[in-house]
Amino acid sequence: MVERIAQLPALPANILSLRQAIANPDVSFKDVVPILNKDAGMTADLLKLVNSARYGLSERIGTVDQAVLFFGMRNLVDFIALTFAENSLRKAFSRIPDISSYFQHAAEVSIQTRRIATIAGIPGNEQEVLSMAGLLHDVGRLVLYLETQAGGMCLLGENTTEDMESVVLREQDLWGIDHCDIGARICRKWRFPEVFESSIRWHHKPVHDDSFSREGAIILLAHILTVPGISAEVIATALPPDRMRELKLDPEKLSELADA
Ligand SMILES: [Fe+2]
Ligand SMILES: [Fe+2]
Repeated sequence: MVERIAQLPALPANILSLRQAIANPDVSFKDVVPILNKDAGMTADLLKLVNSARYGLSERIGTVDQAVLFFGMRNLVDFIALTFAENSLRKAFSRIPDISSYFQHAAEVSIQTRRIATIAGIPGNEQEVLSMAGLLHDVGRLVLYLETQAGGMCLLGENTTEDMESVVLREQDLWGIDHCDIGARICRKWRFPEVFESSIRWHHKPVHDDSFSREGAIILLAHILTVPGISAEVIATALPPDRMRELKLDPEKLSELADA
């Protein structure tokens, strides 16, 4: 499995340069735009993405400068990296028969992640990162699926927090590694921000030892909210009450998201 991760393409050099540029707290427009403009393919993809129906812009964004202004530099770099990740994954795992439903689930979790982050009062730029982590949360499953040829293993399907915990234990039992750990390693390979890595590592067990992963908990809740017909009680008890309060989440409001 580690080999399978190693075989995934490396983060392209231009994305790496962008990441390095934004790691500098004093980064400015003029550090980022030239890197973007240097790569015609990346620029074209970027403009296609920002003008797609997803953002519903009333006016077309025609240049890289406008795209940077609209999204902010850091968000834009995260977008580019994520687009690369999704394309690489689609290619690397195209042999998995049910791959479209996997991406469908990932997109639903991503949407719910952002909604939860909104009601938890998390600022917009962090919401963006969390919603992208939601998109990638189960990437380790794709690796497990291919490597183990696990016929009975499904890519989706846990309905409660207990299910989420037992799936990970089962994976550890069978293969000595679980999909959360694999996902975190992929994030490291692609040099994604630390918050990506920890949200993916802890999305099945946000309360662990004496620690609590807020981002892992939000992904877990987002996953639970996507379960069709999920009950208000399962949602309300998905996290211990003190953790729910720590996240400033009202179970009733959360339930409304499930119906939305
Ligand atoms: Fe998962
Ligand atoms: Fe999931």
